[in-house]
Amino acid sequence: MRTEALPNNRFQLHDISAEVHRHSFARDVAFGLAAPQKSLPPKYFYDERGSQLYEQICALPEYYLYRAELEILRTYAAEIHAEIGHLTLVEFGSGSASKTRHLLAAYEQAGQPFRYCPVDISRNVLWDTANRLLREYRHLEIRAMHTDFAGRPEVIQEFQLDKKAVAFFGSTLGNFTPEESVEFLQRTAAILGPDDVFLLGIDLKKSPAILLPAYDDAEGVTAAFNLNVLQRINYELGGRFDPQNFEHLALYNAERGCIEMHLRSRLTQDVPIIKIEQTMSFRKDETIHTESSYKYSADQVRDLGYEANLVLRRTWFDARRYFLVALFGSR
Ligand code: AVI
Repeated sequence: MRTEALPNNRFQLHDISAEVHRHSFARDVAFGLAAPQKSLPPKYFYDERGSQLYEQICALPEYYLYRAELEILRTYAAEIHAEIGHLTLVEFGSGSASKTRHLLAAYEQAGQPFRYCPVDISRNVLWDTANRLLREYRHLEIRAMHTDFAGRPEVIQEFQLDKKAVAFFGSTLGNFTPEESVEFLQRTAAILGPDDVFLLGIDLKKSPAILLPAYDDAEGVTAAFNLNVLQRINYELGGRFDPQNFEHLALYNAERGCIEMHLRSRLTQDVPIIKIEQTMSFRKDETIHTESSYKYSADQVRDLGYEANLVLRRTWFDARRYFLVALFGSR
């Protein structure tokens, strides 16, 4: 682990990622592209370019998720803050914190020092965001962590906090399978103290007529986001993908209740990936499954929490009831 700090001591970054990451990317690509249904874990979307494209997606008219959750956090920030108390806020997948900052503003208004612990897979985003937030909130102190938290939420124990509010916004839990979600929540619940709370922001079930354009926008930003993972394989692992030989595909899987994103091969092709010493073969129309985005009902969110030993305490919705922020306590 590497720790870096700013001179004023209001910011510290624990880096427990770098080398481990390079190895797991190679392993996940080798394994995922050799399976009968080729797949890649969605966490690899978020290199520097991918993180920028995701920011652009959030500004798209079709991508209602961002604005719906923003509406909730902006409208109910004071209420949420009052409900959770002035607990240190730990956030999984914090990104640019552009929605969370409304909650941070409610902390700031309390006029007392407070601590924010963002955890993210993108190191540059953590630095940029921390710099911006520290200029904005003078009572704020940041302890950030650069790591891949998906398979091990207990990494946040490294912050050694007495009491905490743990947040997981952005519907990122929807990118886990339901089984992975239960496991993630169970492991998170296991490290919550009796006074700790868990805040979840999650996208709700709705018509495919609204869902599909959100994942296949007219400008093609989501397509570029999806295709960028091939470019990442090219420059990090010596891949020889021509992204023009693949096309973005978004579909609604009604049985599983999720949007699926794929990259479909436009032709039969062989693609060498030098650093893993393998050549991947694609048939015409064969796909790489790159992401699932599960949509839940409010009842399913309560049940998901229950399975993970979390008790639902409060819910907040946007005006159209597209999105839900749920507050859980431990059982
Ligand atoms: C981060 N995650 C919740 C986004 C989603 O909606 O599943 C990622 C994304 N994929 C395509 N557009 C946005």
